[in-house]
Amino acid sequence: MIDAHASPLPGPSPDEGGFLEAGRRLFAEPCDFLWAASSVPSLPPTAGPEIAFAGRSNVGKSSLLNALTGRKSLARTSHTPGRTRELNFFGLGGDVKQAKLRLVDMPGYGYAAAPKEQIAQWTRLTQDFLRGRAPLLRCFVLVDGRHGLKPPDEEMMDLLDRCALSYQLVLTKRDEVKDAEAERRVAETLERIARRPAAFPQIVFTSSRSAEGVAELRGAIARLLAEQTV
Ligand code: GTP
Ligand code: MG
Repeated sequence: MIDAHASPLPGPSPDEGGFLEAGRRLFAEPCDFLWAASSVPSLPPTAGPEIAFAGRSNVGKSSLLNALTGRKSLARTSHTPGRTRELNFFGLGGDVKQAKLRLVDMPGYGYAAAPKEQIAQWTRLTQDFLRGRAPLLRCFVLVDGRHGLKPPDEEMMDLLDRCALSYQLVLTKRDEVKDAEAERRVAETLERIARRPAAFPQIVFTSSRSAEGVAELRGAIARLLAEQTV
């Protein structure tokens, strides 16, 4: 994890307060598919804390969910953008209906090739969900680490800032980025979110292929969960 006040090197950070181990334990717990919702009325009844994964289409949201939970095909992934079409809920830890934490895989945004009506429906659904979902602790906004922030990401952050929902950026596809470029990408991204009120000032650079950054992200999630339940 990199934070605004530490060295911008995208390497592993010290295990603050044992959260790496807490994250490892949390994500070693059972995780199962719970619910798919294509509209707000069809959302599952709330029960315990949730985190969501948002990001441009094809950025690697479903792949990261699989990497975090160590299950290859929990969430459906695809080479073709627009794979995830609903809000998919997964229950982590304990009984799936009363899970310790729910993980929400969201449809991607910025996918221009989908039919207009479909895009409008996904946009409405994700915006309404992010605005109004009380148990949502944080939205992880995934950004392609090869390219950095794009206008649709800025729009998503504008929305999250407006509704004051905590969000944290996660750069993806670290395996495709050279070290020096990765360093620059983290530094420039931190700079661009510095004045955003709801942005958590730390960035994790992950790869679902090499698993780089995945343990750190698990740790960040375990910490978030621990801090909200004290
Ligand atoms: P939508 O559901 O369409 O919004 O996409 P998504 O964000 O869920 O992406 P998904 O996980 O389906 O992955 C999209 C493509 O990126 C697939 O071809 C994955 O194999 C690839 N991909 C995902 N994560 C990584 C990664 O860490 N490294 C590399 N090299 N490729 C990745
Ligand atoms: Mg997906």
